[in-house]
Amino acid sequence: MSSASTLHFAVIGDPIGHSKSPLMHNAAFRALGIDADYTAVHVTREGLPAFLESARNTLSGFNITVPHKNAVIPFLDGITPRAALAGSVNTVSVRDGKLFGDTTDATGLERAVLEVFGLPLKGANVCILGCGGVVRALAFHLADAGCARLRILNRTAEKAIRLTDELLKHAPALDCGFASLDDLPAVKNALDGSGLVIQCTSLGLRDGDGSPVDPDLIPASACLFDTIYRETDILVRCRERGLRVSGGLPMLVHQGAESFRIWTGREAPVDVMRAAAAS
Ligand SMILES: NC(=O)c1ccc[n+]([C@@H]2O[C@H](COP(=O)([O-])OP(=O)(O)OC[C@H]3O[C@@H](n4cnc5c(N)ncnc54)[C@H](OP(=O)(O)O)[C@@H]3O)[C@@H](O)[C@H]2O)c1
Repeated sequence: MSSASTLHFAVIGDPIGHSKSPLMHNAAFRALGIDADYTAVHVTREGLPAFLESARNTLSGFNITVPHKNAVIPFLDGITPRAALAGSVNTVSVRDGKLFGDTTDATGLERAVLEVFGLPLKGANVCILGCGGVVRALAFHLADAGCARLRILNRTAEKAIRLTDELLKHAPALDCGFASLDDLPAVKNALDGSGLVIQCTSLGLRDGDGSPVDPDLIPASACLFDTIYRETDILVRCRERGLRVSGGLPMLVHQGAESFRIWTGREAPVDVMRAAAAS
């Protein structure tokens, strides 16, 4: 039951009906006895400025999902250095009517990979499939975490070239390279020796989608983490080959847990959030 002292949180996106975030955060608030609620709000591109103005007076914080993670930035009063590097914000805190942005996607991925595969990012040989908003956040995080080797494979090679250039300016010693998904020898080369393959394309979100690379090219010793939280073609085929695989649910839980910590200053009840997300 909501009262005058109840804190209000939300997630915004378009579409938003599928979001598991309200289940996770409401369960976490209940578990810790925090008087707060969390709702999903459908916000279109056109509706974003008006939503943000009203959020200054009505919300304590909110998450942001597709397609607003980058578009929101010019409207904010401040963002963290990691969100600025990523060009992406998924967590906004409201303080005294001002909006402060951060990104927790990469932290979520790092904790998920450690939890599921026992694999630290430091020293890892990583190959990322895709080069969208999430990859920007991940790539800078991987560079800062001390990954040994990073390869970025994307359909549109220019995006991967641009990101690789930026990464090398940020971390000149990083062993970093890119390839177009069409360039089979370069794709094979990039996947060879990878210990962790992170699937970050949107291929797999829809029924009937194929894989961005031939799953048979991924080394049998590698772990495959697919950021999508459904059974994608690449995940199913890698599992059939005996690779260790994970879908994106653990990342969703841990990015949400980090948002929760930022808003409340308290460690999130991760087990409670995991159970709620899986329900
Ligand atoms: N688990 C989690 O907590 C979590 C959190 C955030 C996001 N995600 C997932 O992460 C993924 C990426 O999100 P994003 O925000 O980075 O998306 P985005 O910015 O829209 O980027 C999409 C990426 O997918 C590629 N792509 C799209 N269709 C393709 C196709 N037919 N063949 C090959 N590549 C294709 C794009 O390549 P081009 O550059 O060539 O267009 C681009 O690299 C999504 O699947 C999303 O569901 C998961």
